[in-house]
Amino acid sequence: MSKVIRLGLIGCGKMMAAHAKNLNLVEEIEIVACCDLYIDRAEVVAEALGNGAKVYSDYRDMVDDVDAVLVATTHETHYEIGMFFATRGKHILMEKPLCNSEEEGVRLVEMCEKKGVTLMCAYPVRFWPGVVKLKQLVDSGEYGTPFKMSVWTEQLSGTDAVDEYGLPKYLNTSKMGGGQLFSHGCHYVDIMLWFMGEPETGAHVGTNLGTPWMLREGTSAMIIKFKNGAVGYHGATWGARGTRLDYDIQIHTEKGMLEYEHNSGEVRLYDGAYQHKPGELLERQKMTVLWTRDANRDKQTQYEIRHFAQCVNNGTLPLTNGRAALQSLRVIWALYNAEKNGFMADLSGLGIPEEYRVEYMGTK
Ligand SMILES: NC(=O)c1ccc[n+]([C@@H]2O[C@H](COP(=O)([O-])OP(=O)(O)OC[C@H]3O[C@@H](n4cnc5c(N)ncnc54)[C@H](O)[C@@H]3O)[C@@H](O)[C@H]2O)c1
Repeated sequence: MSKVIRLGLIGCGKMMAAHAKNLNLVEEIEIVACCDLYIDRAEVVAEALGNGAKVYSDYRDMVDDVDAVLVATTHETHYEIGMFFATRGKHILMEKPLCNSEEEGVRLVEMCEKKGVTLMCAYPVRFWPGVVKLKQLVDSGEYGTPFKMSVWTEQLSGTDAVDEYGLPKYLNTSKMGGGQLFSHGCHYVDIMLWFMGEPETGAHVGTNLGTPWMLREGTSAMIIKFKNGAVGYHGATWGARGTRLDYDIQIHTEKGMLEYEHNSGEVRLYDGAYQHKPGELLERQKMTVLWTRDANRDKQTQYEIRHFAQCVNNGTLPLTNGRAALQSLRVIWALYNAEKNGFMADLSGLGIPEEYRVEYMGTK
């Protein structure tokens, strides 16, 4: 029987509230400690979980209680908190982005390897059953070669965020590490590397027009060309006052277009289109629903947390292990640098290395 992991929660803000809805669904863990600089926030989460977890305002004080930690603090603290627990042999599920700089990321990954600690980045989208289903369909080969992947995310975000001084959090780029692409787009760059393989070149343009609460970009358009010739597009905004696409992933293959639409929770196939002849008005096509989600449209973090617990118990490499997660950030840093200097980014070598690519068929 697998061991029940004593998990400590650090940073009891908005994201931890989302995790809290799912944590009790994972039998492999027991929440023993909740920590926030503001202890009342830790108390709210501990109470919501209802299993008598101790509360702390300093994460150092909980180290002896835990086997592993889930870190959902603000970005600039990830490295310091990660290193504290890694050096003490505690496993880490780190909210994205892993760290704010390459140097921090490499040091953290190396320390975890040295200490035999499981380090996983919390990228829940990779574990959503609809996204896993889409990946299985693409990988099955049944639909031929995928040649274009597009990911849209349209949300209204960041307008109310303030830091401990009451100042707008997202204006403080030194803490956040980047704009929308770094903070949220990292999920989708990661997904693209997982689906499409080795990137070659790319570009990003961003703006804060429409999202004046952002210092860096609140809206992004990103393109990537992959080594095999496929292309990827990611369009995202934190300024959507309304949306039709919401969160949507579309992959054109030689046999049709596969889509995961997060709002409806459907995986669909669009095919049967043919080039119309002169005089014909419509291209014909049909749409088939291949899969439908049975759960609510929320962050569904139970899948990633369960995977983390299973990797800790089995000593196996997580799907979104530290080295794999670092690659999506390296792509973003290269894209930001190229945008600043007005050229296309050289992304060669920034795919997920073969030895850190993990097979994942989903957990129950
Ligand atoms: N995976 C997702 O879908 C998703 C969505 C939103 C946010 N996030 C990530 O979750 C993390 C938290 O974001 P959020 O929106 O919840 O922010 P937040 O500001 O709402 O919450 C962060 C909490 O961490 C606490 N904190 C900061 N430093 C601390 C420290 N040293 N010790 C203890 N507590 C500390 C703060 O007091 C605050 O309560 C970020 O990394 C963010 O990018 C992930």
